[in-house]
Formats: sequence, structure tokens, C-alpha cells
Amino acid sequence: MEMHIKDRLDEIRKQALADIHSSDKLETLNDIKVKYLGKKGALTAVLKSMKDVAQEERPKVGQLVNDARVAIEELLERTRREIQAREREAKLAAEVIDVTLPAKKNKVGHRHPNTIALEEVERIFVGMGYEVVEGPEVEYDYYNFEALNIPANHPAKDEQDTFYITGDILLRTQTSSVQVRVMEQEKLPIRMIAPGRVFRSDEVDATHSPSFHQIEGLVIDKNITFADLKGTLAEFARQLFGEQTRVKFRPHHFPFTEPSAEVDVSCFKCGGTGCRFCKGSGWIEILGCGMVHPRVLKMSGIDPDKYSGFAFGVGLERIALLKYEIDDMRLLYENDDRFLKQF
Ligand code: DAH
Repeated sequence: MEMHIKDRLDEIRKQALADIHSSDKLETLNDIKVKYLGKKGALTAVLKSMKDVAQEERPKVGQLVNDARVAIEELLERTRREIQAREREAKLAAEVIDVTLPAKKNKVGHRHPNTIALEEVERIFVGMGYEVVEGPEVEYDYYNFEALNIPANHPAKDEQDTFYITGDILLRTQTSSVQVRVMEQEKLPIRMIAPGRVFRSDEVDATHSPSFHQIEGLVIDKNITFADLKGTLAEFARQLFGEQTRVKFRPHHFPFTEPSAEVDVSCFKCGGTGCRFCKGSGWIEILGCGMVHPRVLKMSGIDPDKYSGFAFGVGLERIALLKYEIDDMRLLYENDDRFLKQF
């Protein structure tokens, strides 16, 4: 009887160890444990058959069963550790980072030509002591027109040009509206530029858009003359387009300035001899300006007998198109990466 059980135990033990050796997964190990050591397992079955063993032989058989259990448990545990170690190795190997691989290229954004041009203009005027201010894009008719001496029947007020929201609220057509807001609020003297978006109901083409940007300038102090205006804008032109740039003031009309002028700069491509860029004239128009109209000063509460000033308005897109030699304004609004990354 003893021999018989001993053989069976040896057999079970051999089989269990062979099973464990050939297993390479944690789940299989678990199955093996159940198969041999579980409640209905092979080894447990041997224990149950102990009742058939003679009383005096039981301790010995019990010892044998226990030896087999310990041997199986030990191998199970060792194999479990080996499998876990192997799995960890495999995971680490799979997650290894090859630092010699070429890196993925991140797409980097580019500053828009408008932004570059604006920062350039701001740099120039801030350098001359100007403050940069902003005003609302949705504006009262009063600030956009009336306080700028643009009477009710002025063609600029025609609904073809202006986007009206209500009878007296509109999308500003010019940054000149900010002049009025600053004159009303700020202490004198004033030296400011006001960049911002403006709106006009224009058809889109190479030189027009219903929404574009202007930079307004305003200086108010005692004894400001046209000579100050001229000197300031000449310096602006030189810093923007190069030291050799000359300026030409042509008489013009704006309702809010008197006298008014349009300013041309000598063509920075041909130096003024005439080329395709300046359409043969040697000059390029860049802005409108003038001495602030006494009525405009008075409407904003400034005494025109004590104070005088000048103002100017520049189209930002115009500056960007000129400076970067872009021949179609629409390119500025498409945000095509292939276009933007050139600047
Ligand atoms: N607001 C004018 C326009 O949109 C531009 C302008 C002209 C502004 C003369 C001024 C100025 O401040 O003095 O066409």
C-alpha cells in the first residue's frame, strides 16, 4: 500500500513539475496550482485516500504528500518570479526609446505680415514717446463721424460704405474714432497711436477688403505746427523704408483736418527714378494726415486757441504689402501656411 501511494505521489510530482516547466504564462501556473494542490486537485485526492492506509504508516505517507506539496509550491513560486521578470524585461525592451531616431518635426507658427508691420510701426512711434491705445470696433456714429466733423450728408456715411448695426451704432470705418475718445478722456498733451480693425462694405479684390486695419496717430500740445507733422512723418518713413527715403506732402481734403495732406514716399525699390513697383512715378502713397480741425478740438472739449495738433492715418495692410512686396491683399487673409512662413 505504501509503495503504491509512493509511486502515485512520485508520478504526480513528476507530472506537476513537468507541467510547470513547460508553462510560460502566469495564468497557466494558476491552472496548474489548482490542478494539483486545489480542493479537487491530485495531491488532495491522495490525502483523501489516507483512510485506506494503515494507521502506523499514515505519518510517513503524510510526510511524503507534504514533501511533494512543498516541491510543487517552490517550483511554482520560482517559475512565477521568472515569468514576471521575463515579462518586465519584454515590456522594458518594447518601451525603449531610440534616441538616435530623427525627431518628429513640430510645425511652428509664423507671425503674420500684418503683425510684423504693426510691431515695426509701434516700435518707431513708441521710440518717439507715443502711447499705444485701443478703441472699440463697434462704435457710435458720433465718434466715427460726427465728432470728426463729418456731417450727416457726407458721402462716407452712405450705407454703401458703412456697416450699420442700428441707426447710431456701426462698425467703425476708421480708427480716427479713437482720436475723439482719447481727446475726451486724456489729459493734455497727447501723443498716441491707435492701431485697430476697421470695416467698410467693399467688395473683395486685390486691394480691397470689407475688414482691414489702420493705425491712427494723434499729437495735441501747445504750439504744434505743420512742421512737427512733417518732421515726424519724414522720420517715420525713414525708419520704416530706409534712411534714403524722401517724403512728399500733397494737398488733400479730410473733414477732420485743416490743412490736410496725403503723403508719398520715394519708391524704395528704384529710389525714385520710376519702376514697375511705383508704376513709373517714383513715389508711393502711404498715408493721410493734417492739422486737427479746430472744430474737432472744440467738440472734444479742447480749446483751439490754446492747443493745436496733428493727426495721421496709415493703412496697415498697405504697409505690409509694400514692405514685403506682396501684390494681392487677399493673401493676407487666407492664412495659408505656405504664404505666412515666408516672412
Ligand atoms: N481716417 C482716414 C481714412 O480712413 C485716414 C486719415 C486721414 C486719418 C487723415 C487721419 C488724418 O487722422 O489726419 O481714410
